Amino acid sequence: MKAKEGVLDILNKVLVSELTAVHQYLLHAALCKHWGYGRLHAHFSHLSQEEVSHSSGLIDHILYLGGAPEMGHLDAVAAGKKVSELLAADLAFEREDADVLRQGIAHCAKVGDFTTRHRLEDMIIDTEEHIDWFETQLRTIEQVGEERYLAEQLTADKS
Ligand SMILES: [Fe+2]
Ligand SMILES: [Fe+2]
Repeated sequence: MKAKEGVLDILNKVLVSELTAVHQYLLHAALCKHWGYGRLHAHFSHLSQEEVSHSSGLIDHILYLGGAPEMGHLDAVAAGKKVSELLAADLAFEREDADVLRQGIAHCAKVGDFTTRHRLEDMIIDTEEHIDWFETQLRTIEQVGEERYLAEQLTADKS
């Protein structure tokens, strides 16, 4: 199947963002483990898995449209010296990701690529859930203080 104008560029731009997210959440999962916050480690590991599945879906779709997946570069991966810095960087990152997805959805509607639009719409649902989770964590920190918040993050939830 041949891609409509501009669609492969958008998909590759989204792919760079998703692959960056995989790396950023792997790093944040490892930092949280290193600092002893098992519960946050588990959540960041889960987020990185979700970003892997976004990335692999995009790679499949780019190949399906006859394109070449852009695997060779990442955006800067945000680090931090404490949990609240990680959470703030991740919230900003997810908001940017949502903007890129929104632009992509609008473009696909304009050129009449409804399959790609549907795919991006599915991804934005997860992205908005991620935004909501980061907003909630930062709001809780604001309300109860970072120390009390972190005391709740020491052990992973039993599942
Ligand atoms: Fe994603
Ligand atoms: Fe995300």
